[in-house]
Amino acid sequence: MTSRLLHGRVLSFKSRPKSANDQASYDYYPDGGVLIHDGLIAATGDYAPVSARAGTAEVIDHRDHLILPGLIDAHNHLPQMQVIGSYGAQLLDWLNTYTFPAEARFSEPDHSARIASAYFDEMLRNGTTTAVAFCSAHKISADAYFAEAERRNMRMIGGKVLMDRNAPDGVLDTPQQGYDDSKALIAEWHGRGRGLYAISPRFAITSTPAQMEMTQALFAEYPDCYMQTHLSENKQEIALALELYPQAQDYLAIYEHYGLLGGKSLFGHCIHLSGRERSAMAETGSVAVFCPTSNLFIGSGLFNEHVTRTHGVPIAVATDIGGGTSCSMLRTMDEAYKVLQLQNQTLNPLMSFYLMTRGNAEALSLADRIGTLEPRSEADICVMDSRATPGMALRMEAAETLAEELFVLQTMGDDRSIAEVYVAGDAAKPE
Ligand code: GUN
Ligand code: ZN
Repeated sequence: MTSRLLHGRVLSFKSRPKSANDQASYDYYPDGGVLIHDGLIAATGDYAPVSARAGTAEVIDHRDHLILPGLIDAHNHLPQMQVIGSYGAQLLDWLNTYTFPAEARFSEPDHSARIASAYFDEMLRNGTTTAVAFCSAHKISADAYFAEAERRNMRMIGGKVLMDRNAPDGVLDTPQQGYDDSKALIAEWHGRGRGLYAISPRFAITSTPAQMEMTQALFAEYPDCYMQTHLSENKQEIALALELYPQAQDYLAIYEHYGLLGGKSLFGHCIHLSGRERSAMAETGSVAVFCPTSNLFIGSGLFNEHVTRTHGVPIAVATDIGGGTSCSMLRTMDEAYKVLQLQNQTLNPLMSFYLMTRGNAEALSLADRIGTLEPRSEADICVMDSRATPGMALRMEAAETLAEELFVLQTMGDDRSIAEVYVAGDAAKPE
């Protein structure tokens, strides 16, 4: 049995913080320990009692650093690592000009494998231990993704994108091919090691009704898979989707018609939703995924966190690489804060750190396995250094509370603040 004991300042959320001072929402141990046996957390708490149970465990000293659950990115795109920072276009032009050509290259197995490896390095460098990814329309891009996840023993969710129209031939499938490839991928990878499959129709614009019907059949056959797509990101996109599905009363109704709503359904963006759409999402437990760096970069709009939450819609947070501009969830929450500031809403630091960890795990129905440091959880852990740069160290001299420290990390931090990351108990930060 491999055993490790991490020594440091330990923070893990128990529930969604109700306010900026909600100390009941988290456990914090200033001199804490996390004991890991064979990839699972065996004990978390004050260092003295935890170390008394540690036997011959290897002790790793992270004192001064914060020990948190591994971060979770609820929506990104593996084949868009080389699309990040593409200039001067809003959503539909951005897809046509930059994204579809980049995704076409994933017909090449070597390219898929190389980018998959780089993608996982970037996730881990930024403290992200679980992500939900769209791969390209090519089955081999999803094979490369899951093979790399398995090699690194990571709990990763993803799927090949389904898209059969309104894009160049090199990135399209057909309803039958998309169905067959998804089915083969589910058989091969869903529940193998730590991999989980997400059925991934890109969005209504790039799927014919025939493909949506086959997606419906697939999701009905595999209800324990996830379903991920895009919804209501950009006004031109909404108008085109409704032109293509003229019977639908609104954008969400297209997906609703094909049975794609539910507690394992993840809808990227959800910026320009109506009250009806928000209510229908809430009733079905469908998740709205907030992607702030992408929404600002592509100029899509401001996600209304307050209205979405008060309707009762579960909310997750994500980078949306490569519409998003950083693989860092810290950079993501910094931009989330600014998006809400522009709407006179506030995102307190406890809420940000909850969302990146337990909140996203709850949105993925995985809080019993990841997103916390509770015993029996998988030992995916992120260690953060709040003084990682001279500027941060100077700012931290004036920080007095845990909440202030978290806010400094979110506002000034990036991959340099990730001191170490553990995947199922093993150190995994790339060089
Ligand atoms: N809508 C459909 N596809 C995409 C994509 O790849 N990125 C973003 N941001 N929106 C989309
Ligand atoms: Zn996306």
